[in-house]
Amino acid sequence: MTKMLTQFIEQENCHTLDFYLKNGGYNQAKRAILEMSADEIIEIAKQSNLRGRGGAGFPAGMKWSFIPRDIDKPKYLISNADEGEPGTFKDRVLLSKNPHQMFDGMIIAAKAIDCHLAFVYIRGEFKKEAEILENAIAEAKEKNILGKRIFGSDFDFDIVVHRGAGAYICGEETALIESIEGKRGQPRIKPPFPAIEGYLQCPTVVNNVETFAALPPIFENGAQWFVDLGVENSAGTKLFSISGHVKNPGVFEVPMGTPLHDLIYNDEFCGGMKDDIPLKSVIPGGSSSPILTAKEIDGLTMDYDAIQKAGSMLGSGAVIVMNETTDMVQVCYNLARFYAHESCGQCTPCREGTAWLIKILKRFTSGGARQEDIELLLDITDNIGGLVDFSQGSFGKTICPFGEAVSWPVRALVEKFLPEFEKRVQEK
Ligand SMILES: Cc1cc2nc3c(=O)[nH]c(=O)nc-3n(C[C@H](O)[C@H](O)[C@H](O)COP(=O)(O)O)c2cc1C
Repeated sequence: MTKMLTQFIEQENCHTLDFYLKNGGYNQAKRAILEMSADEIIEIAKQSNLRGRGGAGFPAGMKWSFIPRDIDKPKYLISNADEGEPGTFKDRVLLSKNPHQMFDGMIIAAKAIDCHLAFVYIRGEFKKEAEILENAIAEAKEKNILGKRIFGSDFDFDIVVHRGAGAYICGEETALIESIEGKRGQPRIKPPFPAIEGYLQCPTVVNNVETFAALPPIFENGAQWFVDLGVENSAGTKLFSISGHVKNPGVFEVPMGTPLHDLIYNDEFCGGMKDDIPLKSVIPGGSSSPILTAKEIDGLTMDYDAIQKAGSMLGSGAVIVMNETTDMVQVCYNLARFYAHESCGQCTPCREGTAWLIKILKRFTSGGARQEDIELLLDITDNIGGLVDFSQGSFGKTICPFGEAVSWPVRALVEKFLPEFEKRVQEK
């Protein structure tokens, strides 16, 4: 099975520059800087159909093409290493085991948008990973891979590591930009999008760690190679962070379109359900993605279209597996509590609504829930995040998609596991 991001991660010193260079590292960055035009680079990225791995799946090449060329402002590039979505722990593997591949991709993207200064915005808790990145930058500077006139060209390019302070919302790209600017991390109203007014009101591209890391193999093997690895509308391989009630949780790199059943049950991946207790439900793409029942994942493949058709999202590729003993009311409460804690408080529906959700859900977990509370929960989710109807788009009511991120999963949990909520009402 082809691996293009994690093939070396079991090997000693795989994070060092020496190791990376011995395995063909930075050849593509060098080629991009010395031999390719911005248009050529963007065209390859577009043809590869590389979709952003941070959650929304927006095509990377198209995002870069929005950066205006004819303005006299610096352009910035940011690698989003905030990795805050509950259940997600795949960027961490790339940052600690393969940091140079991300830098390699960042150099390619920098040439595409004419950027000379980039940031890696890394989750504050990733202290060790931040140190690895700092060391990797120092190594690259010594070899003229970063810094002034890289690879002997007339192109300057530097990367600065910026540590976050533990707020989930700072993974949202405009909150992240505010945070780098030294302000409170709160999302901005869009438009203008970061491509027009991002960091310091200058054109800015934000991409996920995995998105950047995918670029060197794409440029080495060609766009079509990447397309052929996956399935329609979902090119390439993808990292999945799989946790929960499985025998062998972990991060697995597989081609898009791999059956979820294989990931959970095959020995080369999770090796089946822990203690052989049957599966009850799966969150397929991080805590913001609506939960799927055992029936709904029957035959499900892990790609954008299939998961959307099943009523959820591929998101960040964080799969949380739950067995039959799982109390779904408690799951709902835990989830809502996380979002209530992490709401930045800027938008009233989200700030007030998430607090109401946990107040009501607390009645279900500790007694005192009323029948009408079920309708009330659904009503509040509508008022925070709008109705879930993928065929018609979303109807969010907040500045950023955090509103949908809390209301969609809560709604799905209540609707799909209604008897468990009703039982709590009856049991008082
Ligand atoms: C509340 C919230 C949290 C987010 N957290 C992350 C994150 O931790 N990492 C990430 O890459 N994207 C995160 N995103 C998505 C980013 O806003 C952005 O779409 C992404 O970094 C773009 O990169 P991509 O196109 O390569 O996916 C988050 C979005 C929201 C609304």
